Amino acid sequence: MEKREELYSGKAKSVYSTDNPDLMVMLFRDDTSAFDGKKVEQLNRKGMVNNKFNAFVMQKLAAAGIPTHFEALLSDTESLVKRLDMMPIECVVRNLSAGSICRRLGVEEGLELNPPTFEMFLKNDALGDPMINESHIVSFGWADIKYIEKAKDLTFRANAILKKMFADAGILLVDYKLEFGLYKGEVVLGDEFSPDGCRLWDKETRAKMDKDRFRQGLGGVIEAYEEVGRRLGIDFDAP
Ligand code: C5P
Repeated sequence: MEKREELYSGKAKSVYSTDNPDLMVMLFRDDTSAFDGKKVEQLNRKGMVNNKFNAFVMQKLAAAGIPTHFEALLSDTESLVKRLDMMPIECVVRNLSAGSICRRLGVEEGLELNPPTFEMFLKNDALGDPMINESHIVSFGWADIKYIEKAKDLTFRANAILKKMFADAGILLVDYKLEFGLYKGEVVLGDEFSPDGCRLWDKETRAKMDKDRFRQGLGGVIEAYEEVGRRLGIDFDAP
């Protein structure tokens, strides 16, 4: 497999084409951003930690029957992934209230949401990723509704798997964001799953172990990501 030209560079990752039109290389950079790119910093080791964290989670999900784009770890900061036709939509599941739902609905942080809440956001930096519903997606033709229903189903199936995986490590999965795309007609999980795109709290102390440490200037960001990984059994020093 030969890595070729850069196809796209986002806020924390870049993707490259390969000599196989169905596969891409995803590079996890140390860049860390929040508030629609208004706060940006380089955090040493983050690319490596998120690359290995994502590989671990994607493989867990695949083993449980969730189709994902992940193919293989290539290096500390690179993974080989399937080339998906991405839907411009973020799927969020919330098990506990935190973040934007508290601001939008005026509810306190940490309320148990039973059943968990599902929300979708349009990927549009200029608009600040507004919340949308299925009706918007149909009316504006952003995606076929049958693919959205599948993505929603997969997002909830992932919740059952991930909630248990984190709970067994003494961690509460508060919420998370997934993105999906199409690969040969099938809805497949793309992008990444790392502490950059979810909220994780220590079960006992409710200490934040995710990107909120960066957003809120709490410090110890990568140390917290590595602690989550250590509890899950991820070996960040493995070649
Ligand atoms: O900001 P909000 O509370 O809506 O975020 C819900 C979840 O989705 C959080 O875990 C957050 O890290 C994640 N998210 C993300 N990328 C975005 C927006 C939210 O990973 N652009």
